Amino acid sequence: MSNGSSEYALQMVHIEKYFGLVCALKDINIQVGRNEIVGLIGDNGAGKSTFVKILTGVHRPTSGELYVAGRKVDLRTYSVRRAHGYGIETVYQDKSLGEKQVLWRNFFIGRQITLPFGFINVKKEKAVAQEIMMNTIGFRGRGITVDSKVNKLSGGERQGVAIGRAMHFEAELIVLDEPTVALSLKEVNKVINFVHKIKEGGKACVYISHSIADVYEVSDRFIIMDRGEIVGDIKKEDTSLKDLDAFLLEYSHGLRDQKE
Ligand SMILES: Nc1ncnc2c1ncn2[C@@H]1O[C@H](COP(=O)(O)OP(=O)(O)O)[C@@H](O)[C@H]1O
Ligand SMILES: [Mg+2]
Repeated sequence: MSNGSSEYALQMVHIEKYFGLVCALKDINIQVGRNEIVGLIGDNGAGKSTFVKILTGVHRPTSGELYVAGRKVDLRTYSVRRAHGYGIETVYQDKSLGEKQVLWRNFFIGRQITLPFGFINVKKEKAVAQEIMMNTIGFRGRGITVDSKVNKLSGGERQGVAIGRAMHFEAELIVLDEPTVALSLKEVNKVINFVHKIKEGGKACVYISHSIADVYEVSDRFIIMDRGEIVGDIKKEDTSLKDLDAFLLEYSHGLRDQKE
């Protein structure tokens, strides 16, 4: 255990990221509780995806500190693989799932259950995949089994599989970057339900979006970003969808700049 308090799934302290001379993230300080759903919102270019990439080990920050479940992350050696080790899982739009793979195989990419001599334990993997589908993500048949190909699933169902996988492997923190872009309304509802399950399962989630309409219902708190900075940190009980919308609109229209 290091300095960071383990009441938080995530702490970022003074995180900055420059791409050359461009400052994509400026002095980012964030805490996410162990069982908290945080909606990270902001217009295009706000720095949301850069935030995700630092958190998931894709990019190294220029400076700052990162703590996951109270453990200080060594940023010099941090990587996507290490992020998994710290219990951070991300669900990317579409590309998170192998298209032509059958579902059960997909659950175990990079972490196969093996028998002695290193053979993959197919029977066990199928049984676990079935368990995840029924209990974690609540698939109710309609022709989809663990032997179905991923490309037969709807966008919302794919998100569900990825979320189920993250939940099964005991992620401390599940990061969703714009998971509902390109989904139908019905599928958006599925993703919303999956996030409810993350909350019920006692886990934490950072749900990133450029629109608050789909994050409002599931989030406990909202962090608003604008051009690389956090400009608002608001608990759901202290705001309404309408007020939050108005706040965001001021930024997207640059009205805040005019006031300064
Ligand atoms: N790999 C990169 N190289 C240079 N600039 C980048 C890179 N990634 C992001 N940026 C810049 O950082 C800023 C934030 O981008 P991004 O994090 O993608 O925002 P968002 O996801 O909120 O739309 C933008 O100005 C973008 O052009
Ligand atoms: Mg983005």
